[in-house]
Amino acid sequence: MNARGYFVTGTDTGVGKTLFSAALTRALARSGVRVAVMKPVASGAVRTADGLRSEDALALMAEASVTAPYETVNPYCFPPPISPHIAAAQANLQIDLDVLRARYAELVATADCVIVEGAGGWLAPITTTESMADIARVLAVPVILVVGMRLGCLNHALLTYESIAARAANFAGWVANGVDPAMECAAENRRTLCARLGEPLAQIPALERADALPDLSAAAARLLLRS
Ligand SMILES: Nc1ncnc2c1ncn2[C@@H]1O[C@H](COP(=O)(O)OP(=O)(O)OP(=O)(O)O)[C@@H](O)[C@H]1O
Ligand SMILES: [Mg+2]
Repeated sequence: MNARGYFVTGTDTGVGKTLFSAALTRALARSGVRVAVMKPVASGAVRTADGLRSEDALALMAEASVTAPYETVNPYCFPPPISPHIAAAQANLQIDLDVLRARYAELVATADCVIVEGAGGWLAPITTTESMADIARVLAVPVILVVGMRLGCLNHALLTYESIAARAANFAGWVANGVDPAMECAAENRRTLCARLGEPLAQIPALERADALPDLSAAAARLLLRS
């Protein structure tokens, strides 16, 4: 596998980007891939003895087979659980795409694959003019869209898909994540997205235990075959 990465975005915040990214990282690692992880920007971080830490970054790092310093994995980390561009402004900090590109290059140098998790959705702002989409652009990585399957997801998924195409980003596929076990017409909704976005890379059911990662070895194998 050539050194490459995937940018994992979602239809919204809280739709399963971390769950999917951690499970994919685990599956890639178990298949022998040297896999690193990145959470370029995080808000809602906790203060620890080691400094500010994002739970997402830690969850991803726990599955990676390539270790890296925390600051490389998560260069921008803010305590309040608010939009990163507001958190950065409050901290008098400017999120710098060149910094993210440099940290990503460090990870790529030691890994076969880097799984990068965005924050919020595809156009979540990081500065007054830039968004998560610009991170995927400067890292030049294909995008995986996690769709939280619940009422309203068709509009969010199609808008995101359209914006990914409009920005000429490389679409690597989507994931149907069953966040709402009571969703009505779940199969019809999934078929609607299949007709427009293609077959999903993975379908994750509603999990009873939130800490149990789904087995994504089939999705990992599909991605490996393509590279
Ligand atoms: N298929 C599922 N079944 C059950 N619970 C799920 C499922 N997918 C996600 N969850 C739970 O939903 C919550 C949000 O998931 P997750 O943290 O992966 O979302 P996210 O998109 O990464 O959110 P953020 O925008 O905060 O990064 C978590 O508690 C997670 O365990
Ligand atoms: Mg997350």
